[in-house]
Amino acid sequence: TPQDGENYDYLFKIVLIGDSWVGKSNLLLRYTKNQFKLNYQSTIGVEFATTNIKIEDCYVKAQIWDTAGQERYRAITNAYYRNAVGALIVYDISKQNSFENVQKWHQELRDHADPNIAVMLIGNKADLKHMRAVKFEDAQNFAQNNCILVIILTVLQQQTAFMGLINEIH
Ligand code: GTP
Ligand code: MG
Repeated sequence: TPQDGENYDYLFKIVLIGDSWVGKSNLLLRYTKNQFKLNYQSTIGVEFATTNIKIEDCYVKAQIWDTAGQERYRAITNAYYRNAVGALIVYDISKQNSFENVQKWHQELRDHADPNIAVMLIGNKADLKHMRAVKFEDAQNFAQNNCILVIILTVLQQQTAFMGLINEIH
């Protein structure tokens, strides 16, 4: 059963990347524990959590890896990307700079990850509408030019990101 988590047909490793502060750890927390933390605590090294999902007749164990956006706290790059089948590149819709750096994160994927990795661009903190700094069209253009999917999220929609990506990999 998917509940016991030990019997599964597929193990999907998914990595979260993006600038510090964009909300990667909260995405993970929301998806795996349905929680949200207002107090910021930088991720140090690498953390991961797993969930079990049933897709059609298959049991999928998704192992989601999270590391720091800040260079000095980051996990070793090669090990982080090894065997990853999916990646979420996260930016903060209220911070232009976090969107500009999406290009850098995408390049890092191309340098270190499997070329067949499924990639999704996530515009996070969509609840901060009044502070929006990144146009949806710009995100959409980037996604289109790089053949990746894009979605804009509020804290409450974060589950859909993972489900969308997992379905894509599947
Ligand atoms: P690093 O570990 O340093 O790379 O940061 P991170 O990308 O993991 O960011 P984290 O999840 O720690 O969130 C940073 C801050 O943004 C925290 O104070 C969160 O409470 C806040 N935050 C995360 N997601 C959202 C969101 O969807 N909306 C709003 N308004 N705030 C958010
Ligand atoms: Mg973090």
